[in-house]
Amino acid sequence: MEKSEQPGFYKLSMPERMKTLQELSGISDEEARTLQNTGGLPAETADKMIENVVGGMTLPLGMAMNFVVNGKDYIVPMALEEPSVVAGASKAAKIARVKGGFKVTNTGPVMIGQIQAVDVPEPKKAKARLLRKKKEILAKANAQDPMLVSLGGGAKDINVKVIRSLKGPMVVSELIVNCGDAMGANAVNTMAEAVSPLVEELTGGKVYLRIISNLADRRLVKATAVFEKEALGGKEVVEGVVYAYAFADADPYRCATHNKGIMNGVVAVALACGQDTRALEAGAHSYASRSGAYKPLSTWKKNRDGDLVGTLEMPMAVGLVGGAARVHPAARANIKILGAKTALELAEVMGAVGLAQNLAALRALAAEGIQRGHMKLHARNVAANTGAQGALADEIAERMIAERKIRFDRAKELFDELSKKRPA
Ligand code: MEV
Repeated sequence: MEKSEQPGFYKLSMPERMKTLQELSGISDEEARTLQNTGGLPAETADKMIENVVGGMTLPLGMAMNFVVNGKDYIVPMALEEPSVVAGASKAAKIARVKGGFKVTNTGPVMIGQIQAVDVPEPKKAKARLLRKKKEILAKANAQDPMLVSLGGGAKDINVKVIRSLKGPMVVSELIVNCGDAMGANAVNTMAEAVSPLVEELTGGKVYLRIISNLADRRLVKATAVFEKEALGGKEVVEGVVYAYAFADADPYRCATHNKGIMNGVVAVALACGQDTRALEAGAHSYASRSGAYKPLSTWKKNRDGDLVGTLEMPMAVGLVGGAARVHPAARANIKILGAKTALELAEVMGAVGLAQNLAALRALAAEGIQRGHMKLHARNVAANTGAQGALADEIAERMIAERKIRFDRAKELFDELSKKRPA
């Protein structure tokens, strides 16, 4: 039997799974203990969140400072492994503050649930029948979630399209659902499943897929900010950022990285606040491709005063009720720090962070290049790996930067040399 074939692995307790895993992989007791440390998440909770759980995986949690969004001040938690992102967001937010911070609007918490009907004898007539029975379909959907409906949410409309596919025409019904403070996947999927017998009856076809769409183009945020030219570092920087945007607009290879910079911020806040980061990535990149060409999610231009104006528009499907945002204690604490009272408020702050992160990257690229900032943190990490702490680690890092030799062997030499000189 191969080592990955372990029938019943899922039935074991967490410690038993780890014991099996140690036997199979040869990881030491110490390595096992590292993995078993679930940080701010109780092990029993972790064990219920996904399958075959053996432990937890922690990431650094940093706070992005200086954010003003729609006139309100925010400290923004970010969880990620990459240096310079938190510092970049904080710096960009500080620059945006000069001109009043970020203005963000949203289109409401509306998601789409798709029901795919195939082998429909007369697709166009089926579409007309579905639309005639809209009220009945919506009532069936809304019966699944009286709580959401009582709070003003629920299925509000239905859209039907006949699409051509590799397997012939399909009739796709789309439930338009106001998800309130939920991300909505559970609510929408339950509704889509519940209405599908009715859809089969009305179309005479067979329903296969019943699932939310992550192209959340009815759940957009639009963030704008003015970045004052002097605060940015001068008019050359403004020009550089506008050129960077033009590059991304014209070339998908650059555009992917431009949008990745935005997602550095969005996903880090999402992770800290217990959101579905994959849904956000899927939404962002599909929205960026909606014209048929892959485009930047943000735009950058110079205004009449010579200041830089940035705008970011993207789907932001996030929720405060249900999912990890509720069950993960660290996510709950982070949401409290951020101070978002509604899912839309969280979405708006995340839009501002995406724009700030984009600016931070483009500003660095247009001016000094990003490696300098990265190298500082990288050198500090390499120094810390020797066991050095505090001022000693700083000195080792500075020496390695000056020598342009950021390597563990050099850090170790410096550690030995400098720690001898320092009093213990
Ligand atoms: C690195 O994680 C993100 C950047 O590459 C984004 C960009 O190039 O715009 C710096």
